[in-house]
Amino acid sequence: MDPAPAARTYDLVIAANRLPVDRQVLPDGSTEWRRSPGGLVTAMESVMRGREGAWVGWAGEAGEAPEPFDEDGMHLVPVPLSAPEIASYYEGFSNDTLWPIYHDVIVPATFHRGWWQSYREVNERFAEAICSVASPGARVWIHDYQLQLVPALVRERRPDVRIGWFNHIPWPAVELFAQLPWREHLLRGLLGADFLGFQRTADAQNFIRACRQMLHLQTRTDTVHVASEDGAPDRVVRAASVPISIDTKGLEKLAKTPAVRARAKEIRASLGNPRTLLLGVDRLDYTKGIRHRLKAYEELLVDGAFSPPDVTFIQVATPSRERVEAYRRLRTEVETTVGRINGDHGSIGSPAIQYLHQSYPREEMAALFQAADIMLVTPLRDGMNLVAKEYVACRHDLGGTLVLSEFTGAAHELHQASMVNPHDIEGMKQAILRAVDSDPAERRRTMRALRRRVHDHDVQRWASMFLESLDIAPRRPQRRVRRELDEQTEGTA
Ligand code: ADP
Ligand code: G6P
Repeated sequence: MDPAPAARTYDLVIAANRLPVDRQVLPDGSTEWRRSPGGLVTAMESVMRGREGAWVGWAGEAGEAPEPFDEDGMHLVPVPLSAPEIASYYEGFSNDTLWPIYHDVIVPATFHRGWWQSYREVNERFAEAICSVASPGARVWIHDYQLQLVPALVRERRPDVRIGWFNHIPWPAVELFAQLPWREHLLRGLLGADFLGFQRTADAQNFIRACRQMLHLQTRTDTVHVASEDGAPDRVVRAASVPISIDTKGLEKLAKTPAVRARAKEIRASLGNPRTLLLGVDRLDYTKGIRHRLKAYEELLVDGAFSPPDVTFIQVATPSRERVEAYRRLRTEVETTVGRINGDHGSIGSPAIQYLHQSYPREEMAALFQAADIMLVTPLRDGMNLVAKEYVACRHDLGGTLVLSEFTGAAHELHQASMVNPHDIEGMKQAILRAVDSDPAERRRTMRALRRRVHDHDVQRWASMFLESLDIAPRRPQRRVRRELDEQTEGTA
């Protein structure tokens, strides 16, 4: 880590709630930096590695922020959050209000006016930090639901920069978004951008519909017309899908290393070389369908369809948002279920499930993906799900079966996967049984097709597509469109 020269500015500035690294205080009082959790960091870290730019975000601990520093060619600009702000802006508004609403209210959302106030204040702070490092005319790329007010706040301060925002999670149906008491403010915040990127076309369309219905703005296909205020010219904002991806080549290269291959073999051997190894890898989040997956597995064991050590299951559940009540409850439920399944179906030396509530280095993840015969990706709702793509990238041997929920963004690209509805436990059981008994030649054909997709659409291509869309986004309505809109307005007057 190198201290950075002060007052340098950048042509590319990205902002996300988190920096790619978290500062952790160890029991002896010393500190160390660890990779931050989640798909956003996985993707953007690979994107930024090859580009010179600044990354504005929170360093993961309460209190004063560390000084800006340079790492891996990136300039990292920490934004401070106090302990009360972590509770109100991050755990509260971002993850107990917005997250449930944007994921189809799998758990009820909580509304607190104080949380909203804090969200506004923290978004202001991010906007200030971005403006302090953005060169004249820079490209500013803002990420995710935690920072939806930032586009307009940056525009107010810096009309010279181009502003893009990408939503890593789904955008909800208008009826759900409508529950938010601050819905108009959120839409206005986002409309400060020139280009808004979403995972799926349906997400972009939901956003456009919300602008039409709630702000009564004119919309055309994928653009929203933002009428002038205070004499400023009219603007158009484009909202379209740009599905995110992974560093396919990098991960494949890692998966091919002798160390990772050997580790994959070792993992299987340590489980007694099961005929079939199932794997789940998720943040411990209620959107991921972990309970549904466990239910299907438990029923198969009860039915006598298979039993350990012939078939076994590794569930990696990364710790996540542990002070939010819904996440605490989920952890208790998952751990109780795992205990019961192991108690009822395991034996000495061969548990029915290996449950790991820890984070691992990339090498270990690649080895796990390579070791697993069946990858269970069963979210109830997920913007994309990079784990599904990572599994495919690691299977250069063309082995393995991907069982994939139709409610993930990934399902819109990985059509050849074995699709499931996680609410349909019977359907999920059948999909697992089909995967256990699948024909190796058919498996290879399927994996080859899946791999083609993740090779052709990797994270670098995603970033180029996003930035190109940002560069060419029309900022002003074309004259023809303006005329049509004027005519429509006259017609309704
Ligand atoms: P989300 O962003 O909701 O967490 P994704 O599937 O899109 O879900 O991304 C998760 C990312 O975190 C992937 O890159 C995955 O490899 C990584 N990951 C998940 N669990 C772990 C873990 N226990 N240790 C290390 N990395 C993990
Ligand atoms: C998802 C979100 C990210 C978030 C990540 C980890 O990927 O889209 O914005 O960073 O989960 O969650 P956390 O709350 O730990 O940052």
